[in-house]
Amino acid sequence: MSTSEKVRVAVVGAGRWAQVAHIPGWQREPRAEVVALADVDAKAADEAAATFSVPRAVTDYRELLDDPGIDVVDVVTGNQPHFQISWDALSAGKHVLCEKPVHTDYRKTREAAALAAARGLRTKLGFTFRYAPAIRYAKDLIDSGFVGEPYIFNGFEQNSQWIDPATPLRQFDPEDDPAQIAVSSIEGYGAPIIDIMHWWLGAPLTSVVGAMRNFVPQRIIRDTGRMTRANIDDGDMWIAEFGGGALASIQSSYVTVGNYPGIEARLYGSEGAVIVRLVDEFGICQTIRTARKDAVEFAEVQIPDQYFPPGGHSGEPWEYLFYSGLVSDFTAEILDSGRPGQGDFAQGALVQETINAFEESFRRRAWVDFPLAPAPAATR
Ligand SMILES: NC(=O)c1ccc[n+]([C@@H]2O[C@H](COP(=O)([O-])OP(=O)(O)OC[C@H]3O[C@@H](n4cnc5c(N)ncnc54)[C@H](O)[C@@H]3O)[C@@H](O)[C@H]2O)c1
Repeated sequence: MSTSEKVRVAVVGAGRWAQVAHIPGWQREPRAEVVALADVDAKAADEAAATFSVPRAVTDYRELLDDPGIDVVDVVTGNQPHFQISWDALSAGKHVLCEKPVHTDYRKTREAAALAAARGLRTKLGFTFRYAPAIRYAKDLIDSGFVGEPYIFNGFEQNSQWIDPATPLRQFDPEDDPAQIAVSSIEGYGAPIIDIMHWWLGAPLTSVVGAMRNFVPQRIIRDTGRMTRANIDDGDMWIAEFGGGALASIQSSYVTVGNYPGIEARLYGSEGAVIVRLVDEFGICQTIRTARKDAVEFAEVQIPDQYFPPGGHSGEPWEYLFYSGLVSDFTAEILDSGRPGQGDFAQGALVQETINAFEESFRRRAWVDFPLAPAPAATR
């Protein structure tokens, strides 16, 4: 817990996402300040520090862990080091915000959640879209009974980021067996809509089934610059059954025509329905439409001001608007020990376990019960 007036943040990884979302988000929050940046690429660290007027830049995040002037470590590197940096930061007594996934094995994420709980530290996942004003407003409508008993949830997370094989793909593991489709879109893209599915339905997931496809067989790989056979999931569809009776579907893809970020969440219930779209179209990044059983034509509704940061609006860049909401919520959680946490590592473990169950159902061509059977966690 910070004893200073402001929550002091070190951002680890100074790449694109740190620069469009994390650092601007923190700098919008009056109760927080970014005091250090770390990137293994010294030039990247120095340039970002200069761009955002951050006083300290280092190449090894471990240099920051003993610093009592840092309260939060914000992990926004490429996926591979997420777990180790988070674990080291929690071990050093820092609150941690980490981009998804903390680990591709949900049991490791759960271990990190347990470490944080044991040390009285806060954690948060980069579930960006949970903090979109339209999604939060919808959640409050759902909690107030607007949809009644939830029947059907449909979640989409899709756009055409990699429909062109010449667009360099990151996060490709050349060690993957080319005969077997590797999980890609559902993990890299699908996690936030799975998070919203669990959050809105608020009931236990009991069973899943689904399929993945590889639509674009060859791609340029960023690390090599070469056109390569990449047998990865670039589109997938899933069905989920929930305790209490609700049904849900999830569809994720990065080869489906449409703009960023490409989230759509629909909930239909006994009394009404809400449809939220987070798609940057014609200068607007979010809409919410609702209907009731006695007024079945969906109409767009205004999102109340209280869901926006001061001066914020739906014409802002979505990365900035939604991330502002995320870091503002994390700051409030750190400053108020009585405030319930949301979107934390425990939730991250639930989302990752759902992804792992989806994959298992595809591999076995069968329904898979949830939660998954216990098995030893990965060693790393
Ligand atoms: N939540 C979202 O909506 C969302 C959107 C985009 C990206 N992301 C995630 O954000 C993360 C970063 O994505 P990006 O597009 O900025 O990638 P990027 O490659 O542009 O930047 C990553 C940076 O991390 C640095 N780095 C790698 N290992 C490091 C280490 N051990 N210590 C310090 N620095 C290290 C790299 O040098 C690079 O500068 C990824 O995990 C990505 O999946 C999330």
